Amino acid sequence: MADTRARKRFRSQEWFDNPNNPGMTALYLERYQNQEYTRDELQGDRPVIGIANTGSDLAPCNKIHVFLMDRIKAGIRDGGGIPMEFPVHPIQETGKRPTAALDRNLAYISLVEVLHGYPIDGVVLTTGCDKTTPAMLMGAATVDIPAIALNGGPMLDGWWKGQRAGSGTIIWESRRLLAEGKIDYDEFISRACASAPSLGHCNTMGTASTMNAMAEALGMTLPGSSAIPAPFRERMAMAYETGKRIVGMVLEDLKPSDILTREAFENAIVVNGAIGGSTNAPPHLQAVARHAGVDLDVKDWETIGFDVPLLVNMQPAGAYLGESFFRAGGVPAVMGELVRAGRIHGACRTASGRTMAEVLEGVASVDHEVIKTCAAPMRENAGFKVLSGNLFESALMKTSVISEDFRRRFLSTPGQEGIYEARAVVFEGPEDYHDRINDPDLGIDETTVLFIRGVGCVGYPGSAEVVNMQPPDALIRAGVAHLPTVGDGRQSGTSESPSILNASPEAAVGGGLALLRTGDRVRLDLNASRMDALVDEAEWAQRRADWSSPDLHHQTPWQEIYRTHVGQLGDGGCLELATAYRRIARDLPRDNH
Ligand code: FES
Ligand code: MG
Repeated sequence: MADTRARKRFRSQEWFDNPNNPGMTALYLERYQNQEYTRDELQGDRPVIGIANTGSDLAPCNKIHVFLMDRIKAGIRDGGGIPMEFPVHPIQETGKRPTAALDRNLAYISLVEVLHGYPIDGVVLTTGCDKTTPAMLMGAATVDIPAIALNGGPMLDGWWKGQRAGSGTIIWESRRLLAEGKIDYDEFISRACASAPSLGHCNTMGTASTMNAMAEALGMTLPGSSAIPAPFRERMAMAYETGKRIVGMVLEDLKPSDILTREAFENAIVVNGAIGGSTNAPPHLQAVARHAGVDLDVKDWETIGFDVPLLVNMQPAGAYLGESFFRAGGVPAVMGELVRAGRIHGACRTASGRTMAEVLEGVASVDHEVIKTCAAPMRENAGFKVLSGNLFESALMKTSVISEDFRRRFLSTPGQEGIYEARAVVFEGPEDYHDRINDPDLGIDETTVLFIRGVGCVGYPGSAEVVNMQPPDALIRAGVAHLPTVGDGRQSGTSESPSILNASPEAAVGGGLALLRTGDRVRLDLNASRMDALVDEAEWAQRRADWSSPDLHHQTPWQEIYRTHVGQLGDGGCLELATAYRRIARDLPRDNH
C-alpha cells in the first residue's frame, strides 16, 4: 500500500504541489491550510476526497448526511485520505416547485463543475431522495474520477392504527378515502405524517429506494449499503467504511468507467424488475448510461427486464417497508437469488474491488415472506412494458402494480386479453385535471381512459409526477379505484397505479399526444406493446398540420436554459449537449491566476 502511494501523483497535487508554478501553488495552499489541513498533508501522499453533501434543512430526505459526515470523514482519514466536504444544490422531491426533476440536471451540471475545477482525487456521493442519486451518478460518470455512492437510508417504517404506513403510498390511498368521505382533511394529514417517523428517505420501494438499489446493482456502492435504515447503527458503520474504501479506489484508480458498463446496466434493469422498482428508474438510468457513454435504449427495459419475477414484497407492489427489506437481506439477497437464476452478469466490477459474483457468493434472503425466491416469486413477468404507437414513440407501464381488479376491468375481455379499447378524456396539465375531473359534462364513466399532457420535460418544465390521476369522486364512491391513465409526465414511484407514462416525445414538442382530443377512441394492446388513437390517418395528418408549439412561460433563467437543452424522458431527460462530454477529469482546467 505504501509503495503504491509513493509512486502515485494525484490530480490534487497539480494544485497543491506544482514547483513549475510556485505562485499558484502558494495561492492554492494558503487558503486550504488555514482550515484543518496542513501543508504536509496537502503536499504529501494523501489523495483529496470530496464529499458531495446533498443534505440540508431544505433537503430533509438527505438531512441524515449532515450527521453521517463525521463518520465518512473519519473513514477517509483512517484510509489515508484528506476529506473535503462541499454542498450540492438541494433537490427535495417534496419541497421544490414546479418539480425537483427540473433540478436533477442543475445539480448534475454543478457537480461536474466542482469535480472538474477543484483539487479532488475521488468523491463520496451522498444520495437518498429520488433525483439526488441519478444527479450524483451522472456527474461522476461525466468526470470519471473514482467515486462511491452512500445513501442516507430509508426512514423507519411508518405505522397508522396498527397498519404499516408507507411513504407516498399512504397519500394515494388517503386521497381515495377522502374522496369517498371516509376520512377528513385532518386525518389525511395525520396519516401522512405517521408515514414519516424519522430522518431518512421514503420507506417504500419508491424512487428513492429504487434508485439507491440501482446504484448498488450497478456496483457503485459497498455491498448491502442501500437498504440500511437511516437511524440504524449499521448506517453509521457503512458511512465509515465507504469513506475508507474511496481512498483505496483512488489508489487503485477504480473509476466509474470501470464499473458502469453495459452489463452493469443490464444487471440494474433486472434488479429493478425484481424489487418492483419505480417507473422513474428508466429515465434516470438512461441518463447515467448516456453520461457514461453506454448504449442503453428505453426498449431494453422490456427486452431485458419484462420477464423478471417480482421478488420483493414491499409497498407499493407488496406489503412491507424498508426495515423488513433490510432485515431480509436487502439488495444483496435479491441479487443473490438472481445470480443463481442466471440473471446477473457476475463479472461486473464493484466499488468494493470485488466482482459482483464474489460479492454475492452464498448470499440469500433470510426472510422469504419479504424477499422471495425465483422459484416462488410474488408474481412472474413483473418488469416494464415499453409501449409505442401513434401517440408516442415510447411510454412505460409498470406491470408489477396491475391489480386483479384492474386486470379484470380493463385487460380481460374474453378472447382479447391484454387489449382494451375506450373513449379518451384529455386534460391540459394538473390544474385543468383538478378543475374539471368532477365535471359531469366530460362523461367520464368506469370505461374511460384519462390522459394528461403538457407535463413532460419541456412542457412543465421538468416533467411532473401527475399521471396517476384518480377517477371522479362519484366513481370512487361506486368502487372504481383506478381508471387507465396516460400522460407525458411521470408519476411517483410510490404510486400503485399502472399508468402509461413518460410518453416521449411529449406534447409540448409535438408528440402524438398533442393531437388527441376528448372523445377520440384509443386502443391499448399489451400483447403487441402498442397504444394508438383510433383516428383515421387523414384526420390525424390534418391535426398535425394545424398544430403549433405552445407558448412556454419561463419563470426563472434556469427554466429557460433547461427547456432549451433538455431531451425527452425516453432518452433520459438529459441536457443533450452535456452527453458529449466524457471522462473530463483527464482534461485539467487552467490555473485561475
Ligand atoms: Fe424524498 Fe421520497 S420524497 S425520498
Ligand atoms: Mg415524487
